[in-house]
Amino acid sequence: MNVTGQVALITGGASGLGAGAARVLTKAGAKCALLDRNLALAEELAAELGGMAVECDVSDGPGVEAAIAKVVDTLGTPRIVLNAAGIDIAVRTASPKGAHPLDEFERVIKVNLTGTFNVGRVAAYGMIGLDPLDEDGERGVVINIASVVAQDGPVGQAAYAASKAGVQGMALPMARDLAPYGIRVMTIAPGMFETPLASGIPQEWIDNIIPTVPFPKRWGNPLEFGALVQQIAENSMLNGEMIRIDGAVRLGA
Ligand SMILES: NC(=O)c1ccc[n+]([C@@H]2O[C@H](COP(=O)([O-])OP(=O)(O)OC[C@H]3O[C@@H](n4cnc5c(N)ncnc54)[C@H](O)[C@@H]3O)[C@@H](O)[C@H]2O)c1
Repeated sequence: MNVTGQVALITGGASGLGAGAARVLTKAGAKCALLDRNLALAEELAAELGGMAVECDVSDGPGVEAAIAKVVDTLGTPRIVLNAAGIDIAVRTASPKGAHPLDEFERVIKVNLTGTFNVGRVAAYGMIGLDPLDEDGERGVVINIASVVAQDGPVGQAAYAASKAGVQGMALPMARDLAPYGIRVMTIAPGMFETPLASGIPQEWIDNIIPTVPFPKRWGNPLEFGALVQQIAENSMLNGEMIRIDGAVRLGA
């Protein structure tokens, strides 16, 4: 798909990886709608990029339907959807201090996994009503963000890893569900990217992990992530799969 002139819907688009992708896609000529629970931050970036901001909690079914309806009314139906809204916590399954709080586990699953599926299902339904773009019959693409944590499983990441492994697992069945309508589904698993979310990681842990990245030995930049989002949108053969973008890092215990 040529991204120029397309509407791109980006959840979590106010910050970090979502914002990086919004910058790259805008530069490539897409119109970006930033859906975020942080409306003030989303509005700031939307004003800079010439896109739109919508307040939205991705885990809220009717809320997401209403937010996507606003995007459709204002910019048109999105053909590119990036699910970048996400949260992380670091808690051991159990320790002498107690068992992992169940509500915290459920909160992470609700935002990262249910929220991702929620937006994907509503946005894909909208795309089905669009005309195909080319002779393949392509209508659009849904790109979900997992994490290398889904495969590497560091300490304290049971909730986050479970949510992201769920996102990884959804890609193929969603791609198969939506293939008859020319809609692709891809997953990206980032390694260590410098964003506000990563600033919550303890410094001691960061000091240990960055030197173990084989190459390049540094944080990823959200614009490098955005470049992969653009390539996935443009390359129709990418479908039903997860790509790690991680400098070959494998997170230890
Ligand atoms: N930064 C990394 O190194 C890294 C690595 C692997 C995966 N990820 C994943 O990438 C995604 C983006 O992370 P980031 O690093 O850019 O984080 P970030 O905190 O910079 O951005 C996340 C955005 O999501 C929004 N958000 C959170 N919960 C929401 C909700 N319920 N509804 C709507 N918006 C919500 C936040 O307001 C924020 O703007 C997340 O899913 C994260 O798990 C990040």
